[in-house]
Amino acid sequence: MSGAVPGPAAPALDRVLGIETSCDETAASVVDGGMHMVSSIVSSQIDLHARFGGVVPELAGRAHLELITATVEDALAAAGSGDACAVDAVAATVGPGLIGSLLVGVSYAKALAMAWDVPFVGVNHLEAHLFGALLEAGDVAYPLVVELVSGGHTLLVQMDKPGSYTVLGQTIDDAAGEAFDKVARFLGLGYPGGPAIQAAAEHGDRQAIAFPRSMIGDGLDCSFSGLKTSVVNYVRRHPEVSNEDVAASFQEAVVDVLVAKGARAVVATGARGWCLAGGVAANAPLRERVTAEAAALGVRALLPSRAMCTDNAAMVAAAGWWLLGSGMRTPLAAGAEPNLLL
Ligand code: KG4
Ligand code: ZN
Repeated sequence: MSGAVPGPAAPALDRVLGIETSCDETAASVVDGGMHMVSSIVSSQIDLHARFGGVVPELAGRAHLELITATVEDALAAAGSGDACAVDAVAATVGPGLIGSLLVGVSYAKALAMAWDVPFVGVNHLEAHLFGALLEAGDVAYPLVVELVSGGHTLLVQMDKPGSYTVLGQTIDDAAGEAFDKVARFLGLGYPGGPAIQAAAEHGDRQAIAFPRSMIGDGLDCSFSGLKTSVVNYVRRHPEVSNEDVAASFQEAVVDVLVAKGARAVVATGARGWCLAGGVAANAPLRERVTAEAAALGVRALLPSRAMCTDNAAMVAAAGWWLLGSGMRTPLAAGAEPNLLL
């Protein structure tokens, strides 16, 4: 007889604890087999930062420290995994994000992995958002175009399979979520800006003001800084204008640009699905428009639930499970990487 005799199969790393602390959400989640979310706890710091109109990095880091133990304990308790043996690996976001915030989650995850003697894997927050979009999608036909629209990033990504990404375009200045947050702050609508603008826009006229759609006819990059300036200039010149009309007109301009860019990318790549990810993907008018455009183009629209769009740890555990399955392990000596790219 010749040929290698297969040895015992490597134990499957089935149950992964994910930890997310890159910005202003302290989150922990247990996911089985990369797809089955057993528990997901998100401890939001929104109230802490709201009075400052944005995330204050020092406060965020300290709040993560205060919240991390209870958040992880709650996620483990909800999964019935209170002891070491029940979790096969620990995954944490290592970047991009705020260094002080990232370090809390990374250090906590590494300490757990060491104490439990299980593997640790560091996860890119942007890749985690892509997995967040897939976590609820079931079987997916590739390639996909993923529009990753969050507070820190606006990326158009071609995904040929998990782990294989090509950045097709990105913002040349502000992220889409950043524009929502800055305009909301200027209008006095509060933080985070996206949900506040969406709520105000429901009572406004989206055709009231013709704000610019920068770069809409041009390639796959985008720009939102000029739109934000345009809103500020318009409101200063027309102090009588209602916040609702400004919010609705601004939101319509952002949605027009995101839909045009996504559709152009789908056509250019021959993608079979059009997927939204990141906090701005929770925006209702954007979801409606992408659903309609995807149907018109004959491709599947993949829209994660709102909880899966904004920062959470289930997406981190799902990405971590896939990375572990590809053989990846992160040494416990590794730190956080605040400027990590996709
Ligand atoms: O992905 P995420 O939770 O955190 C980052 O990684 O940045 O995204 C947060 C961003 C914020 O800018 C927030 O204003 C925006 O997502 N956002 C929304 C909505 N919900 C959250 N933007 C527009 N419409 C929404 N409904
Ligand atoms: Zn995010």
